[in-house]
Amino acid sequence: MENQKLTIKDILTLKGKRKITMLTAYDFPLAALVDKAGIDMILIGDSLANVVLGLQSTTEVGMAEMLHHSKAVTRAVKHALVAGDMPYESYQLKPEDAVRNARRFIEEAKCDFVKLEWFDKCLSVTGEIIKAGIPVMGHIGLTPQTADKIGGFKVQGKDAEAARRLIEQAAALEKSGCFSILLECVPDKIAGIISEKLTIPTIGIGAGVHCDGQVLVIHDLLGLYERFTPKFVRRYVNLAPSIQKALEEYRDDVIKEKFPGPEHSFTIKEEELQKLK
Ligand code: KIV
Repeated sequence: MENQKLTIKDILTLKGKRKITMLTAYDFPLAALVDKAGIDMILIGDSLANVVLGLQSTTEVGMAEMLHHSKAVTRAVKHALVAGDMPYESYQLKPEDAVRNARRFIEEAKCDFVKLEWFDKCLSVTGEIIKAGIPVMGHIGLTPQTADKIGGFKVQGKDAEAARRLIEQAAALEKSGCFSILLECVPDKIAGIISEKLTIPTIGIGAGVHCDGQVLVIHDLLGLYERFTPKFVRRYVNLAPSIQKALEEYRDDVIKEKFPGPEHSFTIKEEELQKLK
């Protein structure tokens, strides 16, 4: 049962029954652990840019990087539904590019659905991708790819007018056929109103407990990304110092010839060695 692949229908039926779990992953070993933990959905987020590639902005990754990492993730996953995050300019410029790029996530990288961020012509693009048979998760609130257009990396929907816009965007995305909506950095009560109004599940990050599910960036949860930790993150373990300590022990052991030991080495019979002399 644990290894049985989830379906979009399974995710839809979880709404109102239990909270949906989602995490990012970008490579084979962490994706395998996330999957073994029974997480429902795995996102190869364009946060790849920041937490894996050390870039400043998610706008700096493209289809090549996203597909490369998506393939590594889907090789590991047996149970969770896997999402490819459509990178900047892979869907905003022309609807036909959007469909072609979404299809690459499904056909080449074996993802199950795509996620894309809200922008002014978003609805026609989601409509075309869904028409092509590809499930879509919409992403509203703080949309990092266009953060400069929405006042920066700030909580969205903090006044009645902005909150109403978010509620309308969520409803429009549901109407266009999205199977779920990601809400990023939205006041908890607004996320609650949206979650109640929609029949499809909402997945929150920095959007409070009333969402139908939660997502986090795995490097934040594990304490692997030390540059910046947003307020909405709970760090379940702080791995960076443990990894640092192990690396320093390895360095010292090599220098002091404590590693490798005989148990890590291969032998040759003494008589064979003698033949060399
Ligand atoms: O790229 C990403 O990690 C995201 C988060 C909101 C989960 O989109």
